[in-house]
Amino acid sequence: MSTTRDSVQTALTGKPRRWFVTGGAGFIGSHVVDLLVSAGHEVTVYDNLSLSTDRYIAPYVHDKRITFHQKDLLDLAAVTEAMAGHDIVFHLAANTDIPSGFTKHRIDLDNDVVATWNVLESMVKTGVKELLFSSTGAVYGESIQGTFSETSGPLLPVSLYGAGKIGSEAFISAYCNLFGLRAWMYRFGNVIGERTNHGVIYDFIAKLKKNPRELQVLGTGRGEKNYFLVEECIHGILYVHGKVPDGPFPVLVNLGTDSTTQVMDISKIIIEEMGLSDVRYAFTGTPRGWPGDQPVVLLDTHKIHELGWYSRRTSTDAVRTAARRLLGTDQFRLTVDTLS
Ligand SMILES: NC(=O)c1ccc[n+]([C@@H]2O[C@H](COP(=O)([O-])OP(=O)(O)OC[C@H]3O[C@@H](n4cnc5c(N)ncnc54)[C@H](O)[C@@H]3O)[C@@H](O)[C@H]2O)c1
Repeated sequence: MSTTRDSVQTALTGKPRRWFVTGGAGFIGSHVVDLLVSAGHEVTVYDNLSLSTDRYIAPYVHDKRITFHQKDLLDLAAVTEAMAGHDIVFHLAANTDIPSGFTKHRIDLDNDVVATWNVLESMVKTGVKELLFSSTGAVYGESIQGTFSETSGPLLPVSLYGAGKIGSEAFISAYCNLFGLRAWMYRFGNVIGERTNHGVIYDFIAKLKKNPRELQVLGTGRGEKNYFLVEECIHGILYVHGKVPDGPFPVLVNLGTDSTTQVMDISKIIIEEMGLSDVRYAFTGTPRGWPGDQPVVLLDTHKIHELGWYSRRTSTDAVRTAARRLLGTDQFRLTVDTLS
């Protein structure tokens, strides 16, 4: 990482704030917590641990700067009570097990839309004004040709997860208009790094550890997406938050790299990093990897570039780094000094 202090690092080490982080025990959220605490902020983690464990926040158990509520966002009274006294909400909790929507039809409605509505309602009740929201490139669906920019449409998602995120964005926008909230909404590419418990890199490593001779690939292997590291994601969020401080509408940006990596190339990188050879491939051959999968997601990142933010690594470099971290050959901890 660069040793030159940038605007995000400088802003973080300014006046300490009280952050309310939903999903703070999860993959991205636990990195956010490490970063904020390292910069001297107070953090409340609100997470029901449905998709995570307390492993990454447990080390803070005696740290007075962190409060942990193992509670559900579907409990409005509990969210409101826990949120009182904070300055800003970092809303990361959601159903991130996208395939589960195929069998549990309410899961995205509840954990994306209703959970977000409860966050918004709690903000109005407690007077917290600022919201950072993690949306996704999955909102664009497949009817749009070419790359997806923030003005692309119509938004016709192919997963209940994508639908839940559009619903959340819509409620956030209306709450900003009616109740004076300010929101920054980020449509992420694929965020990767250690601590993740899903996604293609995690999945390939787990499969190859079990059977180093054969790799089962969901779909055709021709999927192609934008992959970027978790610290770049968090940096981009905070950069845009600092750069576009206010406005009548929520700030909406795609956040990711401007390059992509194909599934087959990911598999080759992982095989190489694991020191394997002669691995046989077995393809399920279905057009989608799983119900709701969108094999090709090409995000247009011009808008965030115009704001002055670029990811530092290409998608393929990020895949290799994430593979190394998941394999334990590369260690990384996000702090205000390693962020840039
Ligand atoms: N990782 C990615 O590639 C990616 C891409 C696009 C968008 N996002 C979004 O970023 C956010 C964080 O994703 P992540 O990869 O860290 O996932 P994650 O599953 O690791 O984290 C989500 C956390 O939310 C918690 N949670 C879920 N439902 C809850 C509820 N009802 N009440 C309280 N807590 C609840 C889970 O226990 C988990 O700790 C999500 O909103 C996700 O949709 C992630």
